[in-house]
Amino acid sequence: MRAVVYTKYGPPEVLQLKEVDKPVPKDNEILVKIVATAVNAADWRLRKADPVAVKLFFGLTRPKKTILGGVLAGIVESVGCDVKRWKAGDEVFGSSGMNMGAYAEYICLPEDGVVALKPFNLSYVEAATVPFGGHTAIHFLRKANIQPRQKILIYGASGAVGTAAIQLAKLYGAEVTGVCSTANVEMVSSLGADKVIDYTKEEITGDNYDVIFDTVGKIPYEAVKKTLKKKGTWILGGAGVTQMVQGYWSGLSRGYKIISGLALEKEDDIRFLRELIEKGKYKAVVDKSYPMEQLSMAHSYVEKGHKKGNVGVIIDETLDTINK
Ligand SMILES: NC(=O)c1ccc[n+]([C@@H]2O[C@H](COP(=O)([O-])OP(=O)(O)OC[C@H]3O[C@@H](n4cnc5c(N)ncnc54)[C@H](OP(=O)(O)O)[C@@H]3O)[C@@H](O)[C@H]2O)c1
Repeated sequence: MRAVVYTKYGPPEVLQLKEVDKPVPKDNEILVKIVATAVNAADWRLRKADPVAVKLFFGLTRPKKTILGGVLAGIVESVGCDVKRWKAGDEVFGSSGMNMGAYAEYICLPEDGVVALKPFNLSYVEAATVPFGGHTAIHFLRKANIQPRQKILIYGASGAVGTAAIQLAKLYGAEVTGVCSTANVEMVSSLGADKVIDYTKEEITGDNYDVIFDTVGKIPYEAVKKTLKKKGTWILGGAGVTQMVQGYWSGLSRGYKIISGLALEKEDDIRFLRELIEKGKYKAVVDKSYPMEQLSMAHSYVEKGHKKGNVGVIIDETLDTINK
């Protein structure tokens, strides 16, 4: 099969299209023919080992897992002999998480992995873009115990996690303020934000937010101190070292509840996302898509940090039809 492989850490050019062995499912696994995947922040961070601590887990001198890609949408091609829940022909979407492997024509996933039937009203590429931001936003909003009528500020509202967080926070009944740049104001508003702050033109204002969800690790600390209420919750979704220190210090000195760490992906949540999408309550936000052959270009674009929502990758163009 064809796969995009990297054998050393480095710039987007380390990603190379190659022929590799097609995987064979174990007894409890399904073999999925991948139609589409996506490029997310985790992919470029692993590709270039940023932060360098990535190497502790993914290979000290070179990457141990040579095929990146943590999300996918495709068709079950065959199943292992113990698999009961899936059959050949099922259209699915989901996540391979930190096992990666989705920049390829085929992948094996455990029967009870983070997989669900693909929403009938999304194309494969749209479906592939849902799990990364969706899972991350669900994880952190639940940890924050978001409640109806609470005021939440979502910083980085136009990225993969931000666009998911706006939609989900609204569904939880919160009053949402999104922060983004001028070009994204309309999109953030169309996803349901009650108020939008353009960070290129305005100060971050608002009184007494119950929750601040910084999805990109860039909110000015002064803005948090000015606008987060006493004992409010600060979600550090994409924090670097400085923000981590600020977060933990303000937790001690101001009584903020600080939420950080890795977002966990759950099978129930992928089904929850599918239900929302099929009921028209949640949208896939796709900035653009690249063919598999241009995956390194997709990495260059995503790494710049200014995509709108998500960037898809089409593995099999002939199958990526929109079934609307
Ligand atoms: N903890 C976890 O488990 C976990 C899980 C997933 C992701 N993450 C991390 O979360 C971060 C965000 O991921 P993502 O995929 O949502 O990122 P992304 O899609 O790449 O974010 C892009 C968006 O960020 C906005 N942005 C860039 N600079 C900004 C600024 N100074 N102020 C406000 N918005 C700004 C951009 O809008 P403009 O173009 O308008 O600036 C763009 O729309 C990443 O660092 C990722 O590693 C962590």
